[in-house]
Amino acid sequence: MSGHGEPVPMIARRSAALTGVAEVPGDKSISHRALILGALSVGRTEITGLLEGQDVLDTAKAMRAFGATVTRYGPGHWTVEGVGVGGFAEPADIIDCGNSGTGVRLIMGAMATSPLSATFTGDASLRKRPMGRVTDPLALFGARAVGRAGGRLPMTVVGAAEPVPVRYTVPMPSAQVKSAVLLAGLNAPGQTVVIEREPTRDHTERMLRGFGADLSVEDTPEGRVITLQGQPELTGQSVAVPRDPSSAAFPVCAALIVPGSEILVPGVSQNPTRNGLFTTLVEMGADITFENPREEGGEPVADLRVRHSRLRGIAVPPERAASMIDEYPILAAVAATAEGTTVMRGVKELRVKESDRIDAMARGLEACGVSIEEDQDTLIVHGAGRVPGGATCATHIDHRIAMSFLVLGLAAENDIAIDDGSPIATSFPVFESLMAGLGAQIARR
Ligand code: S3P
Repeated sequence: MSGHGEPVPMIARRSAALTGVAEVPGDKSISHRALILGALSVGRTEITGLLEGQDVLDTAKAMRAFGATVTRYGPGHWTVEGVGVGGFAEPADIIDCGNSGTGVRLIMGAMATSPLSATFTGDASLRKRPMGRVTDPLALFGARAVGRAGGRLPMTVVGAAEPVPVRYTVPMPSAQVKSAVLLAGLNAPGQTVVIEREPTRDHTERMLRGFGADLSVEDTPEGRVITLQGQPELTGQSVAVPRDPSSAAFPVCAALIVPGSEILVPGVSQNPTRNGLFTTLVEMGADITFENPREEGGEPVADLRVRHSRLRGIAVPPERAASMIDEYPILAAVAATAEGTTVMRGVKELRVKESDRIDAMARGLEACGVSIEEDQDTLIVHGAGRVPGGATCATHIDHRIAMSFLVLGLAAENDIAIDDGSPIATSFPVFESLMAGLGAQIARR
């Protein structure tokens, strides 16, 4: 969907204790990659636990447009009959990635070293986001891209007919850029090397290996050096998608801030490149126990038991930012309810997400009576142990802003409304029913 449908205004009220089991959906990052790697493989990939959020559905549609056969058998159960590395067909129409930066950037990478062109677009949020961070390294392989001013969508990428391998140091902490370069490297001869100074989520590396690529990772003084041998034969796999820690963050934080709550959130990925929020919450005084640690779908997972806790503000170490980059909005909401100041530095990447998340949280928290400070790379929330609320917050077509203010409304003194909850369906389509099942008072207006 390139359009954005009717806004869905929503409201959250102060709630009694939350209780029960919160089974959050599959991981969004892994779901995109399962479809894309399935499409680039020979044979059948069988996926269970796929997130059926709009972002992932848009990637499934895109993989069909590039020639893969993608079939849904039942809830979360999908198969992909791939075309193999280098086997993409030229799409007959524009590829619409909706709200998904991950979708469009990874797919651009996956097609950039094939002799075909594709035109990409997305919704009003995605059309504001920078694509140059991906098309710059893809140009090194020989691909060309023409888009709107500032490297914005709509954009046409002409894949390299005779790609050359690349050695590239990613200039910002971005798993999407790293992954786009690795996916492009699949169809280039020789070795493609990607260096990241700060480690970001490593699902692409783990899954490429799982699908049969020859990929090595070395920690060096330069950073993480990832070396991929080009033109492998990837073969279809079974992928069991673990539950998304970035979605789990919402019920977890709701239970922490609503007095008397105790919930269980089973099977949440504990991948160290993703679990920074949980570490931070524990440092703030959160009562979270990590039960039954085990491995599922190649990822470490645990069941999280979460009890309401008195939280105190802390300084979040900037080097932790990449491992919790999507969780700063909900952390900022939680910090507003805590005693004392929470300092979030090294977070300028938040300004180029589905919205400018520093600005969206700062404006919404101020409207709710919370004192904040911000600069280009920083958000500081002065928690006073209570949040007045009583405001309508703008969500800017951003699912995580929408869910963060709804969760905050469960513990605020007065209702908190949002102007539009429709983007929640991009990543967490069952958010409303799941939260209602715990006893949260969240409604459409
Ligand atoms: C993602 C990477 C992150 C994250 C996004 C998912 C991925 O984006 O914010 O939600 O699946 O690779 P950046 O690469 O822009 O940091």
